[in-house]
Amino acid sequence: MSTKRTGCGVPRAGAAGTEMTVYGWVDRRRDHGGLIFLDLRDHSGILQVVINPETAPEARRSAHGVRLEYVMRVHGLLRAREPQNVNPRRDTGEVELYADDCEVLSVASTPPFPVNEETEVEESLRLRHRYLDLRRSRLQRNLRCRARFIAALREVMGELGFTEIETPMMIRATPEGARDYLVPSRLQHGSFYALPQSPQLYKQLCMVAGLDRYFQIARCMRDEDLRADRQPEFTQLDLEMSFIDEEDVFTVLERAISTAWMSAGFRGTISTPFPRITWHEAMARFGVDKPDMRFGMELHDLSEPLRGTGFRVFADALAGGGVVKGIAVPGGADLTRGDIEGRLLDVAKTFKARGLAYLWRRDDGWQGGIVKFFSADELEAIGAATGAQVGDAVLMVADQPAVVAAALGALRNHLARERSLADPDALAMIWVTEFPMFERGEDAGQVTPLHHPFTMLHRDDLGLLESDPLRIRSRAYDIVLNGREIGSGSIRITDPTIQERVFAAMGIGAEEAERKFGFLLEAFQYGVPPHGGFAAGIERLLMEGLGEENIRDVIAFPKNQQAQEPMTGAPAPVEEAQLSDLGLQLRPAAPALRIEPSHGGEG
Ligand code: AMO
Repeated sequence: MSTKRTGCGVPRAGAAGTEMTVYGWVDRRRDHGGLIFLDLRDHSGILQVVINPETAPEARRSAHGVRLEYVMRVHGLLRAREPQNVNPRRDTGEVELYADDCEVLSVASTPPFPVNEETEVEESLRLRHRYLDLRRSRLQRNLRCRARFIAALREVMGELGFTEIETPMMIRATPEGARDYLVPSRLQHGSFYALPQSPQLYKQLCMVAGLDRYFQIARCMRDEDLRADRQPEFTQLDLEMSFIDEEDVFTVLERAISTAWMSAGFRGTISTPFPRITWHEAMARFGVDKPDMRFGMELHDLSEPLRGTGFRVFADALAGGGVVKGIAVPGGADLTRGDIEGRLLDVAKTFKARGLAYLWRRDDGWQGGIVKFFSADELEAIGAATGAQVGDAVLMVADQPAVVAAALGALRNHLARERSLADPDALAMIWVTEFPMFERGEDAGQVTPLHHPFTMLHRDDLGLLESDPLRIRSRAYDIVLNGREIGSGSIRITDPTIQERVFAAMGIGAEEAERKFGFLLEAFQYGVPPHGGFAAGIERLLMEGLGEENIRDVIAFPKNQQAQEPMTGAPAPVEEAQLSDLGLQLRPAAPALRIEPSHGGEG
């Protein structure tokens, strides 16, 4: 069938006068004064087919009852269209195929949503009939770009001397932050494999094995709450390198991402090297650890100039060890009191701020309910520190530093969206470095690693491990693109005594460490090279490269918000016999939110 096949999107004016056979789905059908016009679509594009009942009565008969999404074979003669009939919006718009022979290969029920146009369709319906959704042009484009991007990544990683190594999908559960998906063992009842949250420990073992530079297009599974950029199953460009430091990792990632970005035909160009910012600077200037650098509106510290202020709210916060910070909203003089005390205060409150102070800078000076509490010098200092111009508004929060950062950081992002401050075509890719090693754990007095417990500490901060672990900087780094975390990595601990001390700070004793990570610690006794690595989220890169808001639109068969796959109905109950083979018995549970798989003829 395929030897003589011409793709629907292929024919051009130069081929006029030749005979060809095309195969595809009926995209549109029009009947005009006896002539039937069919648009036939395949992966390559759309071709107009003309069926003339006078010259091709057989073809006319075959095409008689043809409807949208029927699958057809059409043989005929390609002709140039009359100039007035040329369709400049279509690659094949200068030609049409005059059918002499048509065959319906498969009939189609009326699809539950239009396949031939990109209309908005409820997502649950799209996921249930994913094969139809994938037939539409946008997802076809996304999947092809995905394939090109991954192929290009493989190529550049190979050029950079990396070896692709597949690590197991059924592994021992190791605490890595999220909840594991578990696979019960039939041969060892009561024991479970975990699906990998990432190949973290295997890739480190590859370094012990002397493989030097490992990479993998790695599938990862995490049972965590889903968001617009999170799926239970996702893919990483995962890598690890021996005898390196941060600079080597940065160079590899900059080269791999910028090259593959171009090969995939993603929007814009990624320039290298990516600018760098430490975590501390990111928090101070932007209030978040993944700053969107496409716009300004930075946070400015007003604590010093306002230390003696008569405004009680600020004075009390400062006296209590807090800080006062502000942002100047460009053109923000148009924000009403209602805007600020309504939706903007709500944003700040979500991040635990107790209030939101504001001033407008207008032609005739500063305005706002709290102006009267500030001296002329203080107002001038607020203007100078924030850079507020006439026509702007200044929003201020006074509280403990973490609350101020979180509230103003969120407001900054919120206002940028609301006021379209970010250039939608810009690509602001940065490194955020020196993340804190630990954050406060759920149990009082305990700390948990921000990245993972195998992350090396900043060499100057080792002494703080026992005395002040929350102040320790780590050698972990992220890539952030337009305010979204794209990937993370770190230089690893290879010194067993440091590893022990990190476990101890986390409240993990020698015996527990041995039980959970004994295989890694043992491997490290046999000669471990200094090493470090990185993992970039492929889907998140695709989202940015393709301009998609929803991670599901860059995955062929994604899960919905409840981690279900509506087309096949996974997850689904299994037979009692299967459970019994596995030595499992279900506890009576509350009725689950279950979905039925899709079945034919419906819609
Ligand atoms: P981390 O857990 O930060 O690091 O993950 C790295 C990157 O993977 C992507 N990602 C996700 N993408 C979609 N859905 C998810 N649920 C999801 N979770 C993570 C993000 C993230 O930045 N082993 C370490 C890396 C290392 O240290 O080398 C790791 O997995 O883009």
